[in-house]
Amino acid sequence: MSMTIHTGTIAHVRGDPFGAEEALEIIEQGALAIDRSGRIGLLGERNAVFEAFPNSEIIDHGNAWLIPGLIDGHLHFPQFYATAGPGNGLLDWLENTVYPAEASFADELFARAAAERFVRHLLACGTTTAMVFGSQFYDANLALFDAAARSGIRLITGMTLMDRNAPPILLRTAEQSLDPVEKLIGLCRTTPRLYYAITPRFALSCSPALLEMCGALLKCHPETYLQTHINETRTETAAVRAAFPRSRHYLDVYDGFGLITERTMLAHSIHTTDAELDRMAEAACAVCHCPTSNAYLGSGLFPLQKHLTRGIRVAMGTDVGAGTQFSVWRELSQAYKVQQLRDCRLDACHLLYLATLGGAKALGLEHEAGSFETGKSADFFVLDYEQDSYLAARLGRCENAMDQLFCLLHLADERHVGATYVHGRLAAPRNRSLP
Ligand code: GUN
Ligand code: ZN
Repeated sequence: MSMTIHTGTIAHVRGDPFGAEEALEIIEQGALAIDRSGRIGLLGERNAVFEAFPNSEIIDHGNAWLIPGLIDGHLHFPQFYATAGPGNGLLDWLENTVYPAEASFADELFARAAAERFVRHLLACGTTTAMVFGSQFYDANLALFDAAARSGIRLITGMTLMDRNAPPILLRTAEQSLDPVEKLIGLCRTTPRLYYAITPRFALSCSPALLEMCGALLKCHPETYLQTHINETRTETAAVRAAFPRSRHYLDVYDGFGLITERTMLAHSIHTTDAELDRMAEAACAVCHCPTSNAYLGSGLFPLQKHLTRGIRVAMGTDVGAGTQFSVWRELSQAYKVQQLRDCRLDACHLLYLATLGGAKALGLEHEAGSFETGKSADFFVLDYEQDSYLAARLGRCENAMDQLFCLLHLADERHVGATYVHGRLAAPRNRSLP
């Protein structure tokens, strides 16, 4: 059988390093054989792969690293131009920066151009799977679906639903939201690599009637995901307590409407209580850690260890636009620093896991994405540090490949992404400047 063989230094995580599984694999003169259908055929030493598949096309990446496509577990499409906006904490920032920016997606032409750029931005950062809050506007979501389908990126997304506490242009009642959401769910069913996530923004922007509709949709369409925010800031959690006095805690608001399942992704979870953590573990939902955003809004330090010790799956997210950049790789360096402040020491394997296989597991996509296991979709990016003379010199001083990976995790960024491949196909060429 003839394959396409990519060569370079190959790094991926095969198991859960937090569960003490045999995890990091680095192959220095490595090769990745990809079959005609875009799936991983074989991973191994360069010569062994060449021998196994003679007459294959060879793409030689020199000393660059080949790494599984990054998984961004949380960001907002209609906040593409809301990065670095002013705000005094989450609620003030939503009102003054985010809602006006999101309203501009009512303009379909504007939304179409933004969707193209949004998807190219993600790919240019090495992201091949992303869970995305969509727009409040149906046509803007269609634009995002189109851009995603054309590019080949794997997207899990849905219309952001809200029916209170925001400008009227962004609000839809449960009744008004139902039809567009069902249409979008139908479109996802027939589009490869596109998945629908029911997306109530957060408890403060959703009435009980809207949350009830979300629960009904989730039941009716078991292939869908649910994404929302939880326990991001202390002011927010206090406001949720006041708005839902009959709920035991923030999680209970969502739980009461059947929104907490193994297909649920909760962004932030910083001020989560032990009772909530225990219930998250029982319901097997996932949580997304967005450290840049959390620092930007002054939200707090994510208690990673408390989640992991209960077996709660954790993904990494950029949370653009509270996140100020699009690179999940850069989020890893920020996560390392935040966890240092929490006395939780992460190594290179932990970090790479969170952005690849860990993220895939959090999304229930570990059979498809997150590592270079045979049969998975060939989603990866090329990290090419050699043209950066400082980085090349710094890596030259490392004792081994594991130390080099640790340096790359802190010192490389999207400028070093040589190319991004989705399902074996080149989706973003060298990144001289971001699109
Ligand atoms: N909580 C509710 N909406 C948002 C949002 O857009 N960004 C963040 N970071 N938190 C939220
Ligand atoms: Zn968010």
